[in-house]
Amino acid sequence: MEFNFDEIIDRKNTHAYKYDALQRVFGRSDILPLWVADMEFRSPQCITDALKGVLEQGVYGYSSEPAELFDSIHDWILTEHGWDVSKEWYTYVGGIVRGIAYAVQFFTKPGDKIIVQSPVYHPFTLVPEGNGRTVLRNPLKGRDMDFENLEQLLAEDGVKMMILCNPHNPGGYAWSRETLQRVAALCAERNVIVISDEIHCDLYLWGGKHIPFATVSDEAASCSITFGAPSKTFNIPGLASSYCLIPDAEIREPFYRWLGANEFNDPGIMSSLGAIAAYRHGRQWRDAVVSYIEQNILYIENRCASFTDKDGRQLIVPVRPDASYLVWLDCRWLLAELSGKNVTDLQPKDQKLLEDYFVNRLRLGLNSGVMFGREGLGYMRLNVACPRKLLGFEFVL
Ligand SMILES: Cc1ncc(COP(=O)(O)O)c(C=O)c1O
Repeated sequence: MEFNFDEIIDRKNTHAYKYDALQRVFGRSDILPLWVADMEFRSPQCITDALKGVLEQGVYGYSSEPAELFDSIHDWILTEHGWDVSKEWYTYVGGIVRGIAYAVQFFTKPGDKIIVQSPVYHPFTLVPEGNGRTVLRNPLKGRDMDFENLEQLLAEDGVKMMILCNPHNPGGYAWSRETLQRVAALCAERNVIVISDEIHCDLYLWGGKHIPFATVSDEAASCSITFGAPSKTFNIPGLASSYCLIPDAEIREPFYRWLGANEFNDPGIMSSLGAIAAYRHGRQWRDAVVSYIEQNILYIENRCASFTDKDGRQLIVPVRPDASYLVWLDCRWLLAELSGKNVTDLQPKDQKLLEDYFVNRLRLGLNSGVMFGREGLGYMRLNVACPRKLLGFEFVL
């Protein structure tokens, strides 16, 4: 089956956040938005077909959760990741950030400490801090965790939770089994709950395989809350369809009772039908979109290779992701050039020059690296889930 990922779809004036928020966020709207993590591709036809039935009937009453929703999630995870999840571990949640927020509220109290690996997807810090929790940052060591520092952080009083991005965003790094096992052992020993956000787990590139955190050891199963969704994979974040899996009954039962009491776990009919269609009939589309994204990454790598300073030094170095479509651009040499400083002397306030360069010189809306933490200084995040033609912009000084 052929899918046309080259088609340019006009999303302006369709209430698309990626477009509507340009003026507010970047100060101008005449730029190409390659920031918010959704795709410029039409979702698989099977999803639209599934939703059409509801639209054609035209009755939008209360719905019940179809049994098929869990079954389709179960079968997908088993086939894709070899994890045989049980029905009692499962609940629906209306978005992963929301799910993380529920868990933060339920399992921690104001003043408690929550560990993240930074730079990291910004709601991992915004949600805890917005709820009066303290975030402890464990800066990444290259593509791995800094375990020495992690052990020191875990030894502090009041650490109750770690929020793990598996695979990691930004950077798209896959964690090794050994890393996940070490995290599980350290956290389980100290009764620290690990939230594993696996939203990007079905977009592994280059033939790589995802490792669900909860599967790496008994300790991981005993201390973890896993969130997943079809939203990134099939470009349906607007359907708010996500799931939560908790193998450990002591963690799960009171949390699920609380979610139920507050009606935080009821899917709308569009959420259910979209997810079922995606997981039952979307595999070919997913395989095709992964190949297209890989080609886009290679294309960007190629384009950046020829953008050099007068000494032939490459100014933007894309960090190749293991998973998903968000490319972490190492622009430190470009920022050094723009600021007239050495790379080692760059300061947080210099990032403005980089942001200004992308918006006003290249007319591109990218995520600034520092929004993911101060370790993102000199970096920008580029979303390549778009028709390749849109990536044909010229890099100029
Ligand atoms: C790691 C990660 N978690 C969660 C989300 C958002 O999930 P949701 O829209 O379900 O809240 C994103 C979106 O970019 C993400 O990258």
